[in-house]
Amino acid sequence: MKIVPGPEWFEIAERLERHAGKILLIGASDTGKTSLSRFLVETLVRSGREVCLLDADIGQSTIGPPATVSMKFYHEEEDLHCISPDYMSFIGVFNPSKRIRQMLRAIRVLYDIARERPTVRIIVDTTGLVSGRIGFYLKTGKIRLIRPDYVVALQRAHELEHILSAVEGSRIIRVPVSPCVKERTRQYRINYRNRRFREYFQDLCIHSLSLHDIPLVYRDRIYKPAEIFIKDNTVLGLNSEADITLGLGLFDGIGEGKIFITTPLESLKGINRIVVGEIQYIEN
Ligand SMILES: Nc1ncnc2c1ncn2[C@@H]1O[C@H](COP(=O)(O)OP(=O)(O)O)[C@@H](O)[C@H]1O
Ligand SMILES: [Mg+2]
Repeated sequence: MKIVPGPEWFEIAERLERHAGKILLIGASDTGKTSLSRFLVETLVRSGREVCLLDADIGQSTIGPPATVSMKFYHEEEDLHCISPDYMSFIGVFNPSKRIRQMLRAIRVLYDIARERPTVRIIVDTTGLVSGRIGFYLKTGKIRLIRPDYVVALQRAHELEHILSAVEGSRIIRVPVSPCVKERTRQYRINYRNRRFREYFQDLCIHSLSLHDIPLVYRDRIYKPAEIFIKDNTVLGLNSEADITLGLGLFDGIGEGKIFITTPLESLKGINRIVVGEIQYIEN
């Protein structure tokens, strides 16, 4: 369905056209965060601004594959059609409540890259986890990290007020949820993730890496190969640094000190850490 932007959407775009700023969008699931983020990216790029979209929604990611925090720079209109991320960090789960610390670290690492460019408009899209203590902790953690100029709060009633009351130093823009928003079912979300993985895991090659010098990281701890059992087709983050992922792979066995990985990456040069996810992907 066609996106119908609300009047507030244009106002936010105008503010960001005037000044390079950072904006963080928060809201429960299906409140229009991603649609508004995309609207802002498109409007700003079409008016000649450089934009960076940081996608921190690991469950329904739109830039990187599922279970990753990802980021993309847009310099010109052509970039709007390009869907691959410039940077990503594999978290290994779809549910942010299980990996708050890792999520915040990944956001910080990507955000530090984005803000090296002073003229870039930075838009941070987030997960729908806003309720309870975990939602509070995750969202206020992101706000403290990013110190955005604007916190855009998409709410139906007052479900974000516990978070907004803790915001200091950012302007809060409350935006009503569009009546056009379509709520998506759990099955829709599962199908979406499977489709994104299917698109990502195309043209696979099998590679091996020596485990003598490459650590396996699971739930934020380093393991020796003998200490960990990995199921076939477990999704792996192939990292060049602690929290920077160059690509994803699927576990294909361990033998003679090596790990076997199928991946769309042509080469595993530069990979020096493997993050073992808690999800498997099996093409059906
Ligand atoms: N203003 C709008 N007009 C039309 N459809 C919308 C609008 N905002 C959101 N939607 C639709 O509602 C659904 C949920 O929106 P989305 O932006 O993905 O929400 P969120 O990122 O908060 O989960 C999507 O199918 C999207 O196309
Ligand atoms: Mg979204």
